[in-house]
Amino acid sequence: MERHCVFVTIFVLILHLVQAQNQTGFISVDCGLSPPESPYNAPQTGLTYTSDTGLINTGKTGRIAKDFEPFVDKPALTMRYFPDGIRNCYNLNVTRDTNYLIKATFVYGNYDGLNVDPNFDLYLGPNLWTTVSSNDTTEEIIHVTKFNSLQICLVKTGISIPFINVLEVRPLKKNVYATQSGSLKYLFRMYVSNSSRRIRFPDDVYDRKWYPIFQNSWTQVTTNLNVNISTIYELPQSVMSTAATPLNANATLNITWTIEPPTTPFYSYIHFAELQSLRANDTREFNVTLNGEYTIGPYSPKPLKTETIQDLSPEQCNGGACILQLVETLKSTLPPLLNAIEAFTVIDFPQMETNEDDVTGINDVQNTYGLNRISWQGDPCVPKQYSWDGLNCNNSDISIPPIIISLDLSSSGLNGVITQGIQNLTHLQYLDLSDNNLTGDIPKFLADIQSLLVINLSGNNLTGSVPLSLLQKKGLKLNVEGNPHLLCTDGLCVNKGDGHKKKSIIAPVVASIASIAILIGALVLFFVLKKKTQSKGPPAAYVQASNGRSRRSAEPAIVTKNKRFTYSEVMQMTNNFQRVLGKGGFGIVYHGLVNGTEQVAIKILSHSSSQGYKQFKAEVELLLRVHHKNLVGLVGYCDEGENLALIYEYMANGDLKEHMSGTRNHFILNWGTRLKIVVESAQGLEYLHNGCKPLMVHRDIKTTNILLNEQFDAKLADFGLSRSFPIEGETHVSTAVAGTPGYLDPEYYRTNWLTEKSDVYSFGVVLLEIITNQPVIDPRREKPHIAEWVGEVLTKGDIKNIMDPSLNGDYDSTSVWKAVELAMCCLNPSSARRPNMSQVVIELNECLTSENSRGGAIRDMDSEGSIEVSLTFGTEVTPLAR
Ligand SMILES: *[C@@H]1O[C@H](CO)[C@@H](O)[C@H](O)[C@H]1NC(C)=O
Ligand SMILES: *[C@@H]1O[C@H](CO)[C@@H](O)[C@H](O)[C@H]1NC(C)=O
Ligand SMILES: *[C@@H]1O[C@H](CO)[C@@H](O)[C@H](O)[C@H]1NC(C)=O
Ligand SMILES: *[C@@H]1O[C@H](CO)[C@@H](O)[C@H](O)[C@H]1NC(C)=O
Ligand SMILES: *[C@@H]1O[C@H](CO)[C@@H](O)[C@H](O)[C@H]1NC(C)=O
Ligand SMILES: *[C@@H]1O[C@H](CO)[C@@H](O)[C@H](O)[C@H]1NC(C)=O
Ligand SMILES: *[C@@H]1O[C@H](CO)[C@@H](O)[C@H](O)[C@H]1NC(C)=O
Ligand SMILES: *[C@@H]1O[C@H](CO)[C@@H](O)[C@H](O)[C@H]1NC(C)=O
Ligand SMILES: *[C@@H]1O[C@H](CO)[C@@H](O)[C@H](O)[C@H]1NC(C)=O
Ligand SMILES: *[C@@H]1O[C@H](CO)[C@@H](O)[C@H](O)[C@H]1NC(C)=O
Repeated sequence: MERHCVFVTIFVLILHLVQAQNQTGFISVDCGLSPPESPYNAPQTGLTYTSDTGLINTGKTGRIAKDFEPFVDKPALTMRYFPDGIRNCYNLNVTRDTNYLIKATFVYGNYDGLNVDPNFDLYLGPNLWTTVSSNDTTEEIIHVTKFNSLQICLVKTGISIPFINVLEVRPLKKNVYATQSGSLKYLFRMYVSNSSRRIRFPDDVYDRKWYPIFQNSWTQVTTNLNVNISTIYELPQSVMSTAATPLNANATLNITWTIEPPTTPFYSYIHFAELQSLRANDTREFNVTLNGEYTIGPYSPKPLKTETIQDLSPEQCNGGACILQLVETLKSTLPPLLNAIEAFTVIDFPQMETNEDDVTGINDVQNTYGLNRISWQGDPCVPKQYSWDGLNCNNSDISIPPIIISLDLSSSGLNGVITQGIQNLTHLQYLDLSDNNLTGDIPKFLADIQSLLVINLSGNNLTGSVPLSLLQKKGLKLNVEGNPHLLCTDGLCVNKGDGHKKKSIIAPVVASIASIAILIGALVLFFVLKKKTQSKGPPAAYVQASNGRSRRSAEPAIVTKNKRFTYSEVMQMTNNFQRVLGKGGFGIVYHGLVNGTEQVAIKILSHSSSQGYKQFKAEVELLLRVHHKNLVGLVGYCDEGENLALIYEYMANGDLKEHMSGTRNHFILNWGTRLKIVVESAQGLEYLHNGCKPLMVHRDIKTTNILLNEQFDAKLADFGLSRSFPIEGETHVSTAVAGTPGYLDPEYYRTNWLTEKSDVYSFGVVLLEIITNQPVIDPRREKPHIAEWVGEVLTKGDIKNIMDPSLNGDYDSTSVWKAVELAMCCLNPSSARRPNMSQVVIELNECLTSENSRGGAIRDMDSEGSIEVSLTFGTEVTPLAR
C-alpha cells in the first residue's frame, strides 16, 4: 500500500461572520503615480493605491501609450523605470516572520515609444525571484519575511531598461500555503466556471486573482445556497459556489499542466465542496491521482462545505508534464466534481541577507551623511556583483549572513561628526573616512570594534584628543594626519599616522595598564583551563589577534586525541567486566569508571562480530571527529590485538524503547518530553547527514538506539557500528545491510542502496512509536507494520484511535496531527518524496512549540538549559556548537 504526503485538511468549523473586507496590512503601490493624485481607490476593487514616493529614491516616472490605456487597469497605467544604475530597489515596511502574498505587475505598453519587449531580472532581497521578459505580466510569490523590511529589486541584465507598474503586498494567515521549505511561486489559480469573470478583492479577502477554467467535456454545477468557506484558505464564496463534473458520467476529470524546468517541485491545493443535493442512494466518491499515481481517496466532497486537499511535501512530474485526475470509484454513482485548484512551484532563496546589525549600521551611515550613491540600494553585500561600492564583505560561508568587513568613504564629502552607526558594524576590519569634512571628537566606540585593523581619519577637521583605548589597541593602524585641530596632548601628534610609535610616547601609562591587562588575561585563562568548560571559542583578545577573522570559530583550535586505552585499563575500568548494561549485535556493553569517578559504557567487540578490524579502526577515527550534543560521545577506545573496545559516555537513563514500553520504570513520558526527545534525536541525525563530511548514514535508527542521559537529553547511539562510509562523490551506501526489520527502508529491497533518506524512513517509524506506543511489527494486527496500521486507522477516522492511550489525551492535538503527518511523509515509499532531516527538525520544533504553548505544567525534565556538556575526558573539549 502506498503512503502519501497528501492529506485532507479538515478544520474546525468556526462560525465567523463574513467580515467586511478591509485592507489592513495591504500595501498597494501605483508605481510612478504623481504624489498629488495619491491616494485613490481603484474602480473595480476599491483597493486604495498610493504613489511610490518614499519607497524608492531612484528612477523616473512614465506612462503607457494611449493606445493601450483601454486594456489596462488604472494602477498599471503609470510606471517607474530605471535608466540609471544596475540595481534599483523598493524598500517596503512589512512585519517580520509573516507570510505574504507579493505581486509585481509589469505592463510595457510602449511607454518609451521604442516598442521592444522588456528583459530584466526581479530580485527579492538578495535572491533572484524571476526574469521579466513579457510585455504584460504579473509575478506573484508567497513568501515569509525575515525582517521588518522587504526589498524588491529590479536589475538590469542587458540593454533593456527595467520598469514596474504595480506592487502589491498582502499579509496571509500564518499557516496558509505552508511549505516544508522555500517560497511559493505562482503557477496557476483557477476556479471552475464557464463564465469569463475574474475574481479578486473584495470577493477574495487575500486579493488572490482567480481565472475561470472550463472544458467542453464538463458540465457546470452551481448553487445559490451559501457554501461554508470557513477554512484557513478563506476562499471566496463566488469561487466555491461553482464546480464542474464530466459530462460523460463514467469519465475522469482531468487537469493538465506543464512545469518548466521539468524537475521543479511544486505544491497543489485542490478545493472541493459538494454543490448538488444528493439522494439517499447517491454517492459521489473518487480518487485523486497525479500522473496515474494514487495520491488520496476515496474522497467525497462535503455538502456545501469547503475542504482543501493539499500537498504536504512538494510533488514532481515526470518530464514536467502533469496530469491530475479525479477518478470515480466503483461504489460511486456520481461523477467526480471539482471547484477550484491552485498550484505553485517551490523557489528556494539560498542567499542570506547581510547581518542585520551591519545593515542597521550602514543604513545609519547612509542616512546621517545623506549618501545618494546609486549602488547603495538593496542588500549592502549580496549578490556580490551588486554590492554597494565602498564596501567589502565577507560572504564566503553561505550558511551565515554576509558581514561588512571594510568601509571606504574617503573623499565622499562627509560632514558632521563620526556617526554612532559605525559601532554597529561590528565586523569591520578596515575603516577609511579620510579627506572629508568630519568634525567633533574621535569616538571611543571605535576601540570597541574588536576586528578593526586599520582606521584612516586623515584629512578631516576632527577635534579633541585621540582616545587612549584606541591607542592601546593591539595590531591597529591608526592614521589621524591632517586634522589641524586635533589636540596634541601627551605629545601624541608628534608621530602622526603611526600607532606603534605613538604607543612608545605614552609608554608609561600604557605599560601599567598593559601589565594589569596581562595579569587579568592570565587569570582568565587559568580559570578557563581549570574549569575545562565548553568554550565557545578562544578568548576575545585571541580572536582579534588572529588574522582579522572575527567570526568565532566553533571548532577548538586543537582537537586533542581521545585516549587510547590498554586492555588492562579496560579491565580495571569495568572492574573485571562486572556490570553488564546490555547486549548488542556486536558485543556486550559494560558499565565502567574512568579515573574512578566518571561513568562510561564500554562495548567489547565480540570476536565473532562480522566487523573486521579495518572497519573498527576507520570507525574509531571517524567517531573521534564527530561531536554533537545529540550523538553519544566516544570517550576512548581499546585496540590491542584481539581486544577491541569502544568507550562511550554513560547514558544514565537507558534507551527510549525501555521508556516507551515501561520496562524501565512505571513513569510515562508525556507528549512534550517525547517530542523533546525526537527533536534532539533528529538534530543528531541531521548532523550526521549535513554536518559531517563525508556524509554519514546511520543505518540503524530505532528506539533502542536513542539513549537518554541523566537530564533526559537524547543522543543517538551505535552510529559507529552499523554504517559504512561512502567514498567521496558517492551518495549512497551499497554494502550489506545491518538495519533492523520494520525500520528498514522498503526502497532498499528494490535498489540495494541506502541513502540518508533511509534514515529518514526509520526515523518516521520512531515517530509513530512515540505517538502510538505500539510495536513496530505486530503479526496480530491486520496490518502488521505500524505504518500501514496507522495509515489504515487514520483513513477510518479519529486520530485518537492511534494515540498512545496512556497519554490520557493530554496533548496538543495540532502538534500531534503535525507529528503524524510528518511521520507519514518520512514513511513515503518513494525516498525522493521524504523530507530531509533539516526539514524534519524544523517541523518537529514547531510541534514542540505548539505543545509547549499549550500552557499547563511543564515537567521538570522538559526544562531548558540542561547541561550540554557530555562526559569529557582528559583535555578533550567536544561538542561543536551547531
Ligand atoms: C480590519 O481587520 C483587522 C483584522 O483583520 C481589524 O483589526 C480591523 O479593526 C479592521 N478594520 C476595519 C476598519 O474594519
Ligand atoms: C517605514 O518604517 C520606518 C521606521 O520604522 C519609518 O520611518 C518610515 O516612515 C516607514 N515608511 C513607510 C513608507 O511607511
Ligand atoms: C505585447 O506584445 C504583443 C505582441 O507582441 C502585442 O500584441 C501587445 O499589444 C503588447 N502589449 C503591451 C501591453 O505592450
Ligand atoms: C459507464 O459504465 C457502465 C459500466 O461500466 C456502462 O454500462 C455504461 O455504458 C457506461 N456509460 C457510458 C456513458 O459510457
Ligand atoms: C483523462 O485522461 C485519461 C487518461 O489519460 C484519458 O483516458 C481520458 O480520455 C481523459 N479524459 C478527458 C475527458 O480528457
Ligand atoms: C435512487 O432513488 C430514486 C428515488 O429516490 C430512484 O428514482 C432512482 O432510480 C434510484 N437510483 C438508483 C441508482 O438506485
Ligand atoms: C481508489 O483508491 C483505493 C485506495 O487506494 C483503491 O482501493 C481503489 O481501487 C481506487 N479506485 C479507483 C477507481 O482507482
Ligand atoms: C569642507 O568644508 C569647507 C567649508 O565648509 C569647504 O570649503 C570644503 O570644500 C569642504 N571640503 C570637502 C572635502 O568637502
Ligand atoms: C547599535 O549599537 C549600539 C551599541 O552597541 C546598540 O546599543 C544599538 O542597539 C545598536 N543598534 C541596533 C539597531 O542594533
Ligand atoms: C575646522 O573646525 C574649526 C572649529 O572646530 C573651524 O573654526 C574651522 O573653520 C574648520 N575648518 C574647516 C576647513 O572647515
